[in-house]
Amino acid sequence: MHGALCLTDFEALARERLQHFAFEFLAGAAGDELTLGWNRAAFDRIVLRPRVLVDVDAIDTTLELFGETLAHPILLAPVAYQKLFHAEGEVEAARGAVASDAIYVVSTASNCAIEEIAATGARMWLQLYIQSDREVTRDLVARAEAAGVRALCLTVDTPVLGARNRQARAQFALPPELSTPHLDTVGRDRLSVVSNKRQSITWKDVEWLQSIAHIPVLLKGILTGDDAALALDHGARGIVVSNHGARNLDTVPATIDALSEVAERVAGRVPLLLDGGIRRGTDVAKARARGANAVLIGRSYAYGLAAGGAEGVARVVGILREELLSTLALLGKPRFADVDRSIFW
Ligand SMILES: Cc1cc2nc3c(=O)[nH]c(=O)nc-3n(C[C@H](O)[C@H](O)[C@H](O)COP(=O)(O)O)c2cc1C
Repeated sequence: MHGALCLTDFEALARERLQHFAFEFLAGAAGDELTLGWNRAAFDRIVLRPRVLVDVDAIDTTLELFGETLAHPILLAPVAYQKLFHAEGEVEAARGAVASDAIYVVSTASNCAIEEIAATGARMWLQLYIQSDREVTRDLVARAEAAGVRALCLTVDTPVLGARNRQARAQFALPPELSTPHLDTVGRDRLSVVSNKRQSITWKDVEWLQSIAHIPVLLKGILTGDDAALALDHGARGIVVSNHGARNLDTVPATIDALSEVAERVAGRVPLLLDGGIRRGTDVAKARARGANAVLIGRSYAYGLAAGGAEGVARVVGILREELLSTLALLGKPRFADVDRSIFW
């Protein structure tokens, strides 16, 4: 692991360590994986415009999010079934989050319970898939709040799963010995994200969730300005521009390309986050310049978890933070909060 210098180096390490079906589940996306490539290619096409002879002795990456000060703008995205990647699963990932001062967004489909994850002392948000049985969601929200979860991310881009051909070819199935403590009360077969039953949630459910929650609700998986406007109309307290790591509808645009129209409609009224394809410090700056307050990484930290447990997760975040610091210095933009379109060529 110590030879890993950038985030993509961790992918090869994870590939060596993981069983084939687990690696393909993690690395794969939907359909022909076109959006998966675009998520990266769109960042790569953006050309930077550096300014020189700016005092960059003090670089400041702090930001305010829901009344809290974060040391840096990198969060860990919800990634299901982390015992596939490490024997201690989400608990180990959360230790990595603590070590790297990052907010950890726990997936509903985790293999560890929210209370166990909380015991690591990690700052947590919880991702939700609303179940057809509303009481299950109500219970989970209450458990999450009792465990100290600070925000909820309702995933809105998954009424069904996309065509995950790659994981199917590798015969991916969750090993029966891995439990999903937030879902076992419903019975896994009734969980749409596992069984791929349709799970139509609508804007009414957003209002319902907001009405039972005492913590902010963000919507994860918005790609259009129109849906961003509806999200605000229905009381969302934050938006995550995401295409689910290209795992659902193939040929939707790269998230960095969708960000501008969402940012325009949101106009700073609520925090805006982005995930999908973030691999370099320059990507984080580009997302900021197009209007994101913060970003999330998904596969990269899971590769780190597979490669080296909590230390691997912390290395991944640490490398990205270091790259962000050097990017800001080299751009002549010492404050992350000040990064704007002037950094584009
Ligand atoms: C293996 C895997 C599992 C995921 N599980 C979930 C999930 O349970 N809930 C969710 O909202 N998003 C899930 N996602 C999507 C991530 O939260 C995130 O949107 C995506 O991974 C970001 O793109 P990146 O992997 O390019 O960083 C998952 C992604 C991966 C790769």
